[in-house]
Formats: sequence, C-alpha cells, structure tokens
Amino acid sequence: MASVDSEPVVEIRDVDVIRGQAHLLRRVDWTVRADQRWVLLGPNGAGKTTLLQLASAQMHPSSGEVRILGETMGAVDVFELRPRIGLTSAAIAQRISAAERVGDVVVSAGYAVVGRWRERYDVHDLTRAAMLMQQWGVAPMAHRPFGTLSEGERKRTQIARALMTDPELLLLDEPGAGLDLAGREDLVSRLTDLARDAYAPAQVLVTHHVEEIPPGYTHALLLREGEVLAAGPVGDVLTAPLLSEAFALPLTVQRQDGRFTARRSG
Ligand SMILES: Nc1ncnc2c1ncn2[C@@H]1O[C@H](COP(=O)(O)OP(=O)(O)OP(=O)(O)O)[C@@H](O)[C@H]1O
Ligand SMILES: [Mg+2]
Repeated sequence: MASVDSEPVVEIRDVDVIRGQAHLLRRVDWTVRADQRWVLLGPNGAGKTTLLQLASAQMHPSSGEVRILGETMGAVDVFELRPRIGLTSAAIAQRISAAERVGDVVVSAGYAVVGRWRERYDVHDLTRAAMLMQQWGVAPMAHRPFGTLSEGERKRTQIARALMTDPELLLLDEPGAGLDLAGREDLVSRLTDLARDAYAPAQVLVTHHVEEIPPGYTHALLLREGEVLAAGPVGDVLTAPLLSEAFALPLTVQRQDGRFTARRSG
C-alpha cells in the first residue's frame, strides 16, 4: 500500500502529556495516514491508551501540537470531531448498560456521540446497523441484552458500534483482551478483512501480543515509558532487537503468512 500520497489523519508533533509529577508521553511524533493500519505495542503503562486518548480528541496535550482529520486540537469543537472517529476500549465498554439490547448499542452510536436522542431511528441507520452486525457476527444476538454476551461478542459489538458513524479513523484499544483462542482468531480474521478494505477508515490497534496483529497491518509504533522507541513499516519495527528493547526481554520474533509470533529467546 503506497502511503506517501494519502492524507494524514493524525499528526502528533513534539507532544508531551504530563499529569502531576508523571510524564505520560514525552516528545512524541507520529503521523497516521488514511490508507495506513497501525499497531501500537509496548509494556503496561507505556502510554498506549494515553496516545489513543490524544488521537481520539478525548485529551489535550500538555505541550506540542495534535492535528486530527485536518483539525488542530485547541482550535476545533471536539464535539464536531468525535463522531468522525470510532473508538473502542474497556473504559467505553464499561459505560454500556448491561440491559441495553445489542441492536440498540450499535444503532445508537451516531445519536449518542452528537448528544441527540430520538425515539425512532432512520431506516438508513437501521440498515447500516444490521449490515455491521452481520459483518461482525453479532446479528443473531441483536435482540439480546448486551450483558448476556460473551467477551468476544461484546468486543465485536463494540467494533460494529464504533463503525456505525462511518468514521474516518478507527482506534481499537486492546480488542483481543480476554478472548479465547477461537475468539482471537475470529477477531484477527475480521480485522484482516477490514485492514484490506480500501474503503475502510485508517486503523490503529493497541495490543500486547504480536499474535493478534492482523495481516494487512502496515505500520507499527513501539512505546516505552512514554517515548517512541520505533515507528514505521511493520517489517522494520517488529524485529527481535526492537521488541526485545521495548519489553526489556530477549525475544525471538517470527513472521509466517503475515502473522507474528514472539517468545523469550535463550
Ligand atoms: N491522571 C494520571 N495521573 C498520573 N498518572 C497517570 C494518569 N493517567 C495515567 N497515568 C499513568 O500513565 C501511564 C501510562 O498509562 P496508559 O494507560 O497510557 O498506559 P498503557 O500503555 O495503555 O498501559 P496498559 O498496557 O496497561 O493498558 C501509567 O503509568 C498510568 O498509571
Ligand atoms: Mg492501555
């Protein structure tokens, strides 16, 4: 996938995020372009979720510049910007009511994010929600309360919801967490289809496991203690020396049929 000509959707320039004494991010530079799919890796506490908070217009930097979808943070109404960004995370999942029906969780996305509420949804919205539930394998449980779903079904429901507003940028914070092997493979396969869809939004996936990286992901960013250790094409970044440095552990890394595996070496 050529990336030089596609437009930037996230531009982070010399950004620091400081909370009290804690330096969450330090001198971060990162550009995501429309046709790129990025994986974000790093140990617990490295700053991955903080970086997604910046990229989703949920947080302002302490210093530096953040531009999202051509708009500069601080000079744009974030409530206008947020519907153009799809975000899934454990924190967002916790805010979904256990009693809400799956179909409503998905279709209400466009209404919730703009702070509107209507008793009836447009036919267009219902059609789109049905298509997304089909695509993410949750159509059979459309009438079930969200609280009755398995972890894998919840994760897929959230992604369908995040795609409901037809976002230009999709940010997924650990969508593979808590899934069993079959659930993980199912998710990787669906994310691979999305990664390869030329009409799909730019994608950023946070994960702790290289096994969860869908083939078709083009770029990787390694974070360590709030700093970018490496960023660029997956083949250049997901190497044994760089991953070993990121996780402070000697690792062997293999790539087969587009899938990665990593284990301790020696
Ligand atoms: N408001 C805050 N004040 C102080 N420290 C904070 C604050 N918010 C987050 N942190 C710290 O910033 C660091 C980065 O947090 P972040 O959630 O971005 O990490 P992460 O890479 O997503 O980690 P994980 O893999 O565990 O999800 C952590 O050490 C966290 O405790
Ligand atoms: Mg996190």
